[in-house]
Amino acid sequence: MAGSQMKKLAFLAGILVLVGVVSSTLHRIPVHRSPKFTRSHKNIVAERDFIQQKYNRQYTANGHPMEQLSNFDNYQYYGNISIGTPAQYFLVQFDTGSSNLWVPGSSCTSTACEDHQVFYESQSSTYVANGTAFSITYGTGSVSGYLSVDYVSFAGLTVKNQTFAEVTTEQGTNFVDAYFDGILGMGFPILAVDGVTPTFQNMVSQGLIQNPVFSFFLRDNGSVVNYGGELILGGSDPSLYSGGLTYVDVIQAAYWKFQTDSIKIGSTLISTYDAAIADTGTSLIIAPIAEYTMIAALFGADSEGTFECTSLNSYPDLVITINGVEFKIAAKYYIIQENYLCSLAIQSITSQDFWIMGDVFLGRFYTEFDVGNQRLGFAPVNSAISLRQTALWQVFTLVLACGMWKLWQ
Ligand SMILES: *[C@@H]1O[C@H](CO)[C@@H](O)[C@H](O)[C@H]1NC(C)=O
Ligand SMILES: *[C@@H]1O[C@H](CO)[C@@H](O)[C@H](O)[C@H]1NC(C)=O
Ligand SMILES: *[C@@H]1O[C@H](CO)[C@@H](O)[C@H](O)[C@H]1NC(C)=O
Ligand SMILES: *[C@@H]1O[C@H](CO)[C@@H](O)[C@H](O)[C@H]1NC(C)=O
Repeated sequence: MAGSQMKKLAFLAGILVLVGVVSSTLHRIPVHRSPKFTRSHKNIVAERDFIQQKYNRQYTANGHPMEQLSNFDNYQYYGNISIGTPAQYFLVQFDTGSSNLWVPGSSCTSTACEDHQVFYESQSSTYVANGTAFSITYGTGSVSGYLSVDYVSFAGLTVKNQTFAEVTTEQGTNFVDAYFDGILGMGFPILAVDGVTPTFQNMVSQGLIQNPVFSFFLRDNGSVVNYGGELILGGSDPSLYSGGLTYVDVIQAAYWKFQTDSIKIGSTLISTYDAAIADTGTSLIIAPIAEYTMIAALFGADSEGTFECTSLNSYPDLVITINGVEFKIAAKYYIIQENYLCSLAIQSITSQDFWIMGDVFLGRFYTEFDVGNQRLGFAPVNSAISLRQTALWQVFTLVLACGMWKLWQ
């Protein structure tokens, strides 16, 4: 038992280290550790495709194009896109914390590329060369390659002449075990490496969607095989949240950055007027160091955010007030419990002066990213949605459990 706990903590620590390592550029990619895991994932993906064909909804009830997302253990949310003609398929993480699209190129020989789909230029009739060097540098390594141009499709929409990066080297990074092949950035254009126009902006300028708005519903307890959530293009689907959206202006159109009124743990004030970003590419909540220190002290947590605990019911909500409205996250969502050991899913990284609201937050609150009006809208997710397709979820719990078991090895 103790050994198993240690491994899980090591796994969590691995994610944290990665989050810390890449924080300088804020391209955060939560990944899994086991080198053997990718192979079993492929089995899961095969199962998922089967189910997805049955349950695929191309449009929301109110008519917006919709891309179905997969969810592994509430850590990685990703979807299926195609590049080229005929289509070459890739799983990408839709990341609001970066602004470039990249996938592995066929000339990539890094280990991370071997286990993932790669793009073959020669097999696409719509491919156009660009060749400009592309590189995203992380603390301990880099992803680099060159730019190419081709058709990119998802949610039933095809963007013509999208510039993207074909990665030829994934060095010193932990993409090897990532579920996804690449990343599709949905941050603002100013963040884009090489000044490439992001996919969503091209979607709008090519008239594929009328409203320059997209939204994320990250389903809690969704799964790899079964409906992990939705990325909706062109608007929001009110059936996925309760009440109305609370809007807040983006204070700097690079990341999706907004100002919070206050952040509390129960009634204890942690901060007022702190800035935060909504980032689908991060799984945790990251707090500035001073705020994190206060929170850790409240729980008597050690430097890694762990503490002894009995029942999560005895801990207060995390309360984030945005534009006068309180958004509450119950302890069971921001604390991970393993028997008598608890770990905060709120962490801190060095030289970070704003909060990063990852999936721990976004999984509780449906989020509308309004590009046109440069604002964000939040509303509690409709909890009834979690109950949809429960039977299927149970069937595939076993499949997931097998994957989990390998993961903890
Ligand atoms: C992506 O979607 C296509 C078309 O539905 C399918 O053939 C392919 O297997 C999917 N890829 C993955 C990895 O799910
Ligand atoms: C895409 O690129 C091709 C080849 O460069 C060009 O002929 C076509 O007009 C472009 N289409 C759009 C929508 O930009
Ligand atoms: C390559 O793409 C970049 C970014 O879109 C653009 O600035 C540059 O002009 C392109 N170069 C060529 C040779 O097409
Ligand atoms: C998700 O699963 C966890 C653990 O099984 C459970 O405690 C939690 O209530 C579930 N959440 C929802 C919304 O079903």
